[in-house]
Amino acid sequence: MTVSLEQLRRCHFAVDVGAARTRVYVKGAGLVVDQPSVAAVNTRTESLIAVGEFAQKMTGRTPSYIRVVRPISSGTIVDIEMAQRMLRHLIGDKMRRSLRRKPRLRAAACTPHDADPLAQRATIETLVGLGARRVELVDTLIAAAVGCGLPVERPEGTMIMVCGAAATQVAVLSLGSIVTAERIPVGGESVDHAIVQHLRHEHELMLPSRSVRPLQLALSGNGLTPHGPAATEIRGLDVTTGLARSVRVDTAAVRDAIQTPLTAVLDGIGKVLRDCPPDLVADVADHGIMMVGGSALLPGLDQMLRQATGIPVHIAERPDVCAIQGLGAMLEGRIEPLVLNPLAA
Ligand SMILES: Nc1ncnc2c1ncn2[C@@H]1O[C@H](COP(=O)(O)OP(=O)(O)OP(=O)(O)O)[C@@H](O)[C@H]1O
Ligand SMILES: [Mg+2]
Repeated sequence: MTVSLEQLRRCHFAVDVGAARTRVYVKGAGLVVDQPSVAAVNTRTESLIAVGEFAQKMTGRTPSYIRVVRPISSGTIVDIEMAQRMLRHLIGDKMRRSLRRKPRLRAAACTPHDADPLAQRATIETLVGLGARRVELVDTLIAAAVGCGLPVERPEGTMIMVCGAAATQVAVLSLGSIVTAERIPVGGESVDHAIVQHLRHEHELMLPSRSVRPLQLALSGNGLTPHGPAATEIRGLDVTTGLARSVRVDTAAVRDAIQTPLTAVLDGIGKVLRDCPPDLVADVADHGIMMVGGSALLPGLDQMLRQATGIPVHIAERPDVCAIQGLGAMLEGRIEPLVLNPLAA
């Protein structure tokens, strides 16, 4: 592994601060936080009113003195102070007190593939503010591959695709390291945005955020492939009058709208395979692509990828928590280190 398992084993807790959700794993206690990366602030007093699930519910429904903020943008912590306050509340007093009792608190965090030094610094500073004396950073692709049980240590190619909210990361791994990888700035948020924009342009309808997921499900049946229902009824607000109205939406047209962002993902997969040695590509063609991340649950995405690439596609058992569970497995020492020492003469 490119990460030091020895150092990770000494860490007390691990965090995965994503654009959509924040997850925290505490050694010995397991996954203790899996909540939206959202905080609600009273702008008059600057005090925090809510974090996580409750703050998410407030989005789009607040009076003027409450501001709902997301301290993480495009997978990078952009507001360190707010991220610290959010994490403190999500972890809770009891757990924080037990962590602070550790003599030299150590933390691990996963960062997106090719995160720039500034983004890495922001993650480290956030955790130092929570009391960590030392922070280990792990590439999300490695953490997720370990978390979904891929045989990353073996000398054979495995392909992992982390479908997050802000980005999709694709890599071919072998011998515990990344051979080739791409980070495509298209994720679940872009797909949701494409659906909302389509309804606005084609039907002059504003779609409340809670209606996006049911529409995605309506596209299924057979997912993003053209075998589902031909049309579905959707309720929203008329763009000009502001009044509630329902329209019959042609599912094929919505599918087309979604294809645009997904084309970038397909390009990324193509690039990773082109840059990869042929033996590893042959392994990937045999074993297939493993999809993890919350957006792997987008109905029909696996089928669409299978058709476009001709490679088998699998979805991990709990795709949304693979990265943090991978970090957890490394903290608990459940991963055997790969020793590539020079052979004795
Ligand atoms: N059942 C589902 N169907 C479709 N999309 C889903 C489903 N569940 C979650 N998602 C999408 O998955 C995304 C969240 O995934 P995930 O938790 O992996 O993101 P994240 O780790 O916060 O983001 P990133 O890694 O990009 O920073 C959201 O965009 C959400 O809309
Ligand atoms: Mg993520």
